[in-house]
Amino acid sequence: MHFDTIIRNGTVVTASDTFKSDVGILNGRIAALADGLASANEIIDATGLYVMPGGIDSHVHLDQPSGDGIVMADDFDTGTRSAAIGGNSTVLAFCMQEKGQSLREALKIYHEKAAGKCHVDVAFHLVITDPTPEVLGQELPALVEDGYTSLKVFMTYEGLRLRDDQILATLDTARRTGALVMVHCENEDAIRYLIGRHEEEGKFAPKYHATTRPVAAEREATHRALSLAEIVDVPVVIVHVSNREAMEEIRRARQRGQKIAGETCPQYLMLTADDLDQTELEGAKYVCSPPPRDKASQEACWEGLEQGVFDLFSSDHCPFRYDDAEGKLNEKGKRHFRWIPNGIPGVATRLPILFSEGVMKGRISLNQFVAVTSTNHAKLYGLYPRKGTIAVGADADIALWDPARRVTLTNDLLQHGADYTPYEGLDVQGWPVRLLIRGESIVSGDGLLKQAAGQYLPRSRSHLTTRQQA
Ligand code: URP
Ligand code: ZN
Ligand code: ZN
Ligand code: ZN
Repeated sequence: MHFDTIIRNGTVVTASDTFKSDVGILNGRIAALADGLASANEIIDATGLYVMPGGIDSHVHLDQPSGDGIVMADDFDTGTRSAAIGGNSTVLAFCMQEKGQSLREALKIYHEKAAGKCHVDVAFHLVITDPTPEVLGQELPALVEDGYTSLKVFMTYEGLRLRDDQILATLDTARRTGALVMVHCENEDAIRYLIGRHEEEGKFAPKYHATTRPVAAEREATHRALSLAEIVDVPVVIVHVSNREAMEEIRRARQRGQKIAGETCPQYLMLTADDLDQTELEGAKYVCSPPPRDKASQEACWEGLEQGVFDLFSSDHCPFRYDDAEGKLNEKGKRHFRWIPNGIPGVATRLPILFSEGVMKGRISLNQFVAVTSTNHAKLYGLYPRKGTIAVGADADIALWDPARRVTLTNDLLQHGADYTPYEGLDVQGWPVRLLIRGESIVSGDGLLKQAAGQYLPRSRSHLTTRQQA
């Protein structure tokens, strides 16, 4: 058999197996896994490298508007470039419904933002901010059929949050349609109350972002989200879990028999609230929600990854420029933490950080790495087995990892639109030295080889909401 490309002499790693094999690629797909493949237009020597499915980052914010003229640092061009540099072949971004807007209108806008700009494959989660009977009754069922099979709802953020009855109605629609709902769990009323108290006490520095969003506000909302899902009998994803108590809520809900997926992110392994407590306004760089906690919480999140409480390790990439009047240091944000835009960049650093801190330090296996960074994202969000694995018939989305390569993370390396990385100066071991998407080499060395080759991906339903084995 003659292939377009053969990857030779590498070690293939999937979520379940690690084995020596050549990989034959034909027409953008993996066509053979066998030894001694010989005939191809291009032969890539992967001696000493791991041949892994490209990363799938299912929690990425790109080109979202926010009030106050604050501008997200990445659009679909820079954001997906950075994703590719960091070894990702697919990202799932958010399509934000504005109040009063139909989901179709919102999707039209986000498809236009993405058109012709994506360097990796993309799909959209629908963020429901206005769950009217029309939206839930008419639009959503049709959109799920069209391949928009996941939603996000917020329990926090004024203007975005849903009331419990609205969350129930959205969850119920998800149950009927087979959509999967992601929930951002923080108790908005508690946070508002604490912000008011901080204001009375004259506490305005970035570090107070963390003290106004305590663990109990996340734990309570997590418990409530899980209870609401139980009431209408539907699976949910609890996103960006930052601490042990919220994680234990997931464990308990599973013990009760609920189908839950859990997600954590690099910031909860690598940062703490102390990072927000720095001289001047340096702490603004680390403002995200939920906030980074403490060392014990970091250990808990590691434990959750090791033990499978967390299915997903995502970046929650939500980039703002730091030294910028339209970013973290806007005029109001300098005076009061509540106006600092929430979110940090991380789409390029997610995989190297977990590889280095998790795999190289012996906390998780190579197979767990692949599961939580790629395979589980594909299964949960309706892209499996086309994406998320190395198997005959799958898209040839392949990251070649050099486990010996040592890199010091610097902002320049990441090629995103933000003017900082929270991980500046961090030494990592292991780097994605080459990325193929549907058989095409997209990244080699430190640069993009091919521009805007990404495609939009309509999706099937989640393995969690269908009766298939997850
Ligand atoms: O601070 C964060 N995480 N910003 C992004 C929006 C969200 O809540 O995921
Ligand atoms: Zn969120
Ligand atoms: Zn509880
Ligand atoms: Zn997010």
